[in-house]
Amino acid sequence: MTATTMKAVRMHEFGGPQVLRYEDAPVPELKPGEVLVRVRAVGINPPDWYLRDGYRSLPADWRPPVPFPAIPGWDVSGIVEAVAPDATGFAVGDEVFGMVRFPSFGGESAAYAEYVAAPASHLARKPAGIDHLQAAAAPMAGLTAWQYLIELGHDHPNPLQAQRHRPVPLAGRKVLVNGAAGGVGHLAVQLARWQGAQVIAVASGAHESFLRDLGADEFIDYTRRPPEDAVRDLDLVVDTLGGPTTGRFLRTLKRGGALFPVFIGFRDADQAEQRGVTVSMTQVRSNGAQLAAFGQLLDAGTVRVAIDSTFPLAQAREAHERAARGHIQGKIVLTVA
Ligand SMILES: NC(=O)c1ccc[n+]([C@@H]2O[C@H](COP(=O)([O-])OP(=O)(O)OC[C@H]3O[C@@H](n4cnc5c(N)ncnc54)[C@H](OP(=O)(O)O)[C@@H]3O)[C@@H](O)[C@H]2O)c1
Repeated sequence: MTATTMKAVRMHEFGGPQVLRYEDAPVPELKPGEVLVRVRAVGINPPDWYLRDGYRSLPADWRPPVPFPAIPGWDVSGIVEAVAPDATGFAVGDEVFGMVRFPSFGGESAAYAEYVAAPASHLARKPAGIDHLQAAAAPMAGLTAWQYLIELGHDHPNPLQAQRHRPVPLAGRKVLVNGAAGGVGHLAVQLARWQGAQVIAVASGAHESFLRDLGADEFIDYTRRPPEDAVRDLDLVVDTLGGPTTGRFLRTLKRGGALFPVFIGFRDADQAEQRGVTVSMTQVRSNGAQLAAFGQLLDAGTVRVAIDSTFPLAQAREAHERAARGHIQGKIVLTVA
C-alpha cells in the first residue's frame, strides 16, 4: 500500500535557496486521468528558481499567484505506483518520465518529492537505454528544444506572442545556438544536427570539447569575441539566453532567416522587420507523446543528455546554489532514494 506521507522539498515563502525545506508532506491524491509516480530522480530547470524567488525576473503583471506551501519542479523520472481507473497507457511498475503540468506555478503535487501525481498525457515510458538520472534531466529542456525546432505540437494560445510559433526547416541550414552548453542548448545543438543542420555552438571556452563531442561543427567562445561579430548569413539563431540583448543576433541572419529567443525581453521588432528576419518564441508545454518521440532519440544514443551534477533531494538547496554559480554543462539532477 502506498504511504500517506512522503518527504518533499517545500517552500513556505519566496526567497533564496534557504527557503527550500526538506520535510514531510502528504502524498498527492490521484485525480481522474492521473498516474502516481514514485520519483527516482528530479530534473532542475530555471523555472524552478523563478518560482522560488517569486518570479522577480518576470514583469509584475505576469507573476502568477503561488499557493503555499508550494513544491517546486516539473521534471521527474520514476516508477508507476498507482493508476487512476480512467487513465490509460500505463500500468503499475512501468518506468516513466515527464514534465508534469507545465505551465503551472507551484502546488501540492510537483517534482521535488518522493511521489508526484501526473496527468497520464504528460508522461512517456522511460527509454530503457538511459537511467532515471538522464530521464529526469531530459523533459523540460528536451521539450523546449523540440517545440522550438521540430514541432510545436499544440494549439494553445501563445502567451509570448500573438501568433503561433512555427519551427523552420533545418536540413542543410546554418544554425547558431547561443548558451549551447546549458540544458536547452546542448539538446538544441543535437536536434539541429539530427535534422541535418550545420551547427555553430556559442558558450564559454570550457565547454568546447563537450560541444564538439555532441556534434557542433563550429564553436565560438563568447568570452573571447562577441558571437554577433563572428558570423554572418545564418538561417537560424536559437538564443537560449534571450532577454533584451537577443536583438544583437539580427545582423548575423540572412534576409528570410529566423531568431528564436528562448527567454522573454526581445525589443528590436523594427530592426527585425527591416532586415526581413522572423523573431518567434513559445512557452514549452507538457506533452507525453512528444517526449516519447524524443525518448527514441535518447534510447538510440542519437541525442545524449549530459549531467552537470547530482544532489540528493534533501540537498535541493545546494543544487540551487550550484545553479546560481552558472556555467552549467547539461543538467542538474536530484536523486531520490
Ligand atoms: N520558452 C520556454 O518555455 C523555456 C523553457 C525552458 C527554459 N527557458 C529559458 O531558457 C533559458 C535557458 O534555460 P536552460 O535550462 O538551458 O539554462 P541553463 O542550463 O542554466 O544554461 C544556461 C547556459 O548559458 C550559458 N551562458 C551564460 N551566459 C552566456 C552568454 N553570455 N553567452 C552564451 N552562453 C551563456 C551558460 O554556460 P557558459 O556561460 O559557461 O557558456 C549555461 O550553459 C532560461 O532563461 C530559461 O528560463 C524557456
